[in-house]
Amino acid sequence: MSGQGQRAGATRRGLLGLAVAAGAAGAAPLFVRHARAADVPRFALGVASGQPRADGVVLWTMLTGADLPAQAAVQWEVAEDEAFTRIAARGSETALADDTHSVHAEPAGLKPDRWYWYRFSALGQRSAAGRTRTAPAPGAVVARLDFIIASCQRWDAGHWAAWRHAAAEPLDLVLFLGDYIYEYGRDSAPPDAPRRHEGGRVRTLDGYRARHTQYRSDPALQAAHAAAPWLLVWDDHEVDNDYAGDVGQDLPFNFAAQRAAAYRAYWEFMPLPKSARPVDGTMRMHGRLDWGRLARVHLLDDRQHRDVHACPRPGRAGSNTVDLKDCPALLDPKRSLLGAAQETWLAEGWSTERPWNLLAQQTLMARCSWADPAGATGGRYWTEGWDGYAASRRRLLDVVAQKKLPGVVVLGGDVHANYVADLKLDFDDPKAPVIASEFCGTSISSLGLPQARLDGMRAFNPHLLHARSDQRGYVRFTLEGQRLQADLRVVDDARNAASGLSSQGRWVVEAGRPGPQRAG
Ligand SMILES: [Fe+2]
Repeated sequence: MSGQGQRAGATRRGLLGLAVAAGAAGAAPLFVRHARAADVPRFALGVASGQPRADGVVLWTMLTGADLPAQAAVQWEVAEDEAFTRIAARGSETALADDTHSVHAEPAGLKPDRWYWYRFSALGQRSAAGRTRTAPAPGAVVARLDFIIASCQRWDAGHWAAWRHAAAEPLDLVLFLGDYIYEYGRDSAPPDAPRRHEGGRVRTLDGYRARHTQYRSDPALQAAHAAAPWLLVWDDHEVDNDYAGDVGQDLPFNFAAQRAAAYRAYWEFMPLPKSARPVDGTMRMHGRLDWGRLARVHLLDDRQHRDVHACPRPGRAGSNTVDLKDCPALLDPKRSLLGAAQETWLAEGWSTERPWNLLAQQTLMARCSWADPAGATGGRYWTEGWDGYAASRRRLLDVVAQKKLPGVVVLGGDVHANYVADLKLDFDDPKAPVIASEFCGTSISSLGLPQARLDGMRAFNPHLLHARSDQRGYVRFTLEGQRLQADLRVVDDARNAASGLSSQGRWVVEAGRPGPQRAG
């Protein structure tokens, strides 16, 4: 099935087939052509929640099936107990065909810092129940926060045992840091791909909707969404590889219509509030969440507002790997990864009264100087990450240093490897003080660079304390008072949905003492 140029009706039939074929949680065996409407699973893509506040949270679902009306009433309810005997809130939303029958319900008036269960009903069926929670009140003393970071779930690179394990963790939050879908077509899969994308390379609204549906049909991903509220940032593959602002990497570089379609589908499929709905092809993704007096989480958008890449390859936009001496634009102070407005917003929003500021963003922030082909010297930089916008990084870290923030922890993804790093104002000065800590988590399934390449560049980057590209998984964090613990969880075999899980290492950060310490 091609994802491009389809009529809406054709897509909807395709979506249902996908969900059933992939064994979506709760979906009964079904023969689409002969099914009665009452037998069609209406909640085949599961439920999700996100953006918790002290008094509410966003609840998400999407009606499925080939014969949906143009609009359908969807009831939702929130309970204090798993058996739904103590209802805390209930309401109704209208699911519209124009929005792919997505539901973004926003119960208010919930109690802070407590767990809830939620479910939907429509068209004579009831969804599975999800579990979610509210944030503590901003001024509350909070003992603990448990969360994971995850990123980069390329469908055709592996199965998602990592999500199955994550869903079983006792988590307050899931931070997803980008590459929720990949836009690549079926033919881009590796020869031994364990499963394949449906359709060609995605560029249209119908195509993005179909791709999200395929990803969301995975039962392990559904389980992770149903287990805890998510906070999301996006990276490039939700739209197109290596895009920057409204510039795509391929001709024609102006791909505003494609980006608008991708943003629209992203909003439809994610547990985001109605207020996040794209307007004129733009969408606000950066934001903050306070977890009582323990931590402030900052969510950054390093895609929508960035300047174009420095020194692209001839005839192209997008990333490159270049020698600094050949590309002085890498250091140009006018270039920004976040855009001036978001840089200012971040600089003015650090919490000085909490021990922890967690910076949830897309990619590795620590300087990474790559070896030349002979491996003798460093000095080569990947223009796609923070190294391509070094002045923007320096401005951010200058504020951290000036404010003497005691517990800044940068969280990232994108590079399909676990990196643990010291962050400094001057990465070339071994004596420069460490001012913040970084954990860039490995991918859920996307493949990483050869480990030998990472090993070869370590000598040029002593602030990188750990660098492993050969394993898939997520990073699990426990924040308790002045102590942060990070466990690098990795699956034994990312090609096996039933894979076990093990540890690649444990690190600890103490507030007031920037820099991760190895703990196991
Ligand atoms: Fe990725």
